[in-house]
This record gives sequence, C-alpha cells and structure tokens, in this order.
Amino acid sequence: MIRAQLLDGTKCASDITVQIAQTVAMMQGRKPAIAFILVGSNPASQTYVRMKKKACATTGINSYLLELNAAISSCDLLNQIDRLNKDPNIDGILVQLPLPTHIDEKHIMQAIEPTKDVDGFHPINMGKTLLGDLSARVPCTPLGIQTLLEHNKISVSGKHVVVVGRSNIVGKPLAAILVQKNPRCNATVTLCHSSSEHLSKHTSSADILIAAVGKPHFITQNMVRPGAIVVDVGINRIDGKIIGDVDFANVASVASWITPVPGGVGPMTIAMLLKNTLTCYQNL
Ligand code: GUN
Repeated sequence: MIRAQLLDGTKCASDITVQIAQTVAMMQGRKPAIAFILVGSNPASQTYVRMKKKACATTGINSYLLELNAAISSCDLLNQIDRLNKDPNIDGILVQLPLPTHIDEKHIMQAIEPTKDVDGFHPINMGKTLLGDLSARVPCTPLGIQTLLEHNKISVSGKHVVVVGRSNIVGKPLAAILVQKNPRCNATVTLCHSSSEHLSKHTSSADILIAAVGKPHFITQNMVRPGAIVVDVGINRIDGKIIGDVDFANVASVASWITPVPGGVGPMTIAMLLKNTLTCYQNL
C-alpha cells in the first residue's frame, strides 16, 4: 500500500524548463549554447547526452555534440576543451563521464574553464560550493534534489538528513550544500558510505533519507523511519528496466514523501543543467 506522497520530478522539471524557455525566448541576439563532449560509445552515456540535448532544444538553448573516438589521447581531448574554453559563442562545456580508463578524469575536469563548468565539477566550483560561495556552479543532481524539496515546500532546516553514498558528483557536494549556514540549508547532515557501520541505525534516524549508492533496491523498508522523506538518486539498469536504490513498493508504505524512479531526481538533474547553462550565459 502506498502511503507516501510523490515528489514528482517530472512535473517540477517541466515547470522549470518552461520558465527557462520563456527567459531564452526573450533574449535578444545570441542564445545560450552548450557543448557536449562524448568520448567513446558507452550506451548509458549516449542516452544521457541525447536526453540533455533534447532538453536544450525544448528551451531554445543551442547545443553542440562533439563525439570523439574512445582511443583519443588526453592531449587531443585537452586541445578540444581549450578550443571550447576560448570560444565566445559557447557558454557551457560538459564532458560526459565516465571517460575511458586511459584518461585521467580529474585532469580533464580541471581543464574546463570554471565559468563554463555547467556540471560544477571543477575543483574551484567544488571548493566554492564547500565554502558556501554563491558564485559557484553547483553540481546538477544535488541542486536538483534541493530544488525538488523546496518546490514541494519541504524545508531541510534543522532536520536530520542522512545521505547514503559519498560520490564526488552527488553525496559529497549534497552534504556540503545542505549543511551550509543559510535558511535554505541548515540541515544536520550524516554522510554514510560503504564502510559505515550500523548503516540501518543511521538511516532509521533520518528525517530525510537520500539514497545515492548505485545499488538496486539497497534501501529497504526496515531502514526507513515511518514518516521519513525518501529521495532516490539511483539509476540502475536491470534487464532493460530502470531500478532505483530504494525498494519503492515497500518503502512507499512507510515514508511520508518519496521520489519515483524514473521521474524523480533524473529529470531534475537535466533541468538544473539548463539552469546552470543559463547562469553561465548570463555571467559571461
Ligand atoms: N555521468 C553521470 N552523471 C553525470 C553528470 O552529471 N555529468 C557528467 N558530465 N557526466 C555524468
């Protein structure tokens, strides 16, 4: 039995996308533009980039796709990034991850001009995010989670937020954002990971539980406090189906709010990419 209300990411993302499209339509002259770099032929990455490009098209943001061979050298990839860094007609650059193993992702992320870093992965933006500097480009998934909660009038201030997963893309920046001394944040944050002892004890004490582990149905009903708010960041492909990190059917019977998968955090990540691109354009 589903008791929880749905945190509808599709609806929220659609509202934001409409607003962005209206802003872009009012712009005189050059429209915002983003360049996607896709290295190799990872099917999931191809799908993500296709979805991101499609979202750009619906808002009037121009997008360009640079498809590069998996065998490209780091040096050649860096040259491409340098060219886009210097191109005054490009506001945002996104290098889709993961990259082939012979390329050092950290090195590549550092090569993107921080003011064009729509992913917010550059160390300068990550550092600013940690410091609460509002000039940072903030990573899209954490920003999307924060926006989805706010859109549903759920405040994290003073609440115990338990994040499961310490990735550089989601867990670490999300914890850094929600703990900021700021009325939009002010959460008490616990960041759990694969070596955390007594994981259920931590997750059961969450007012807001965020699952970003990348393991299908990892969060089960017994790990969730009745009435908790549950946000599922997982996108796990099993037999052609997308499965979240949360055992939705059972957890939804005890939670007060829950994100569906698909249709929860995923669309919000894409909407925040559009928002970050617009911000880069406005700042350039
Ligand atoms: N691969 C998985 N998620 C992401 C993301 O948010 N940005 C980039 N660039 N690559 C990813």
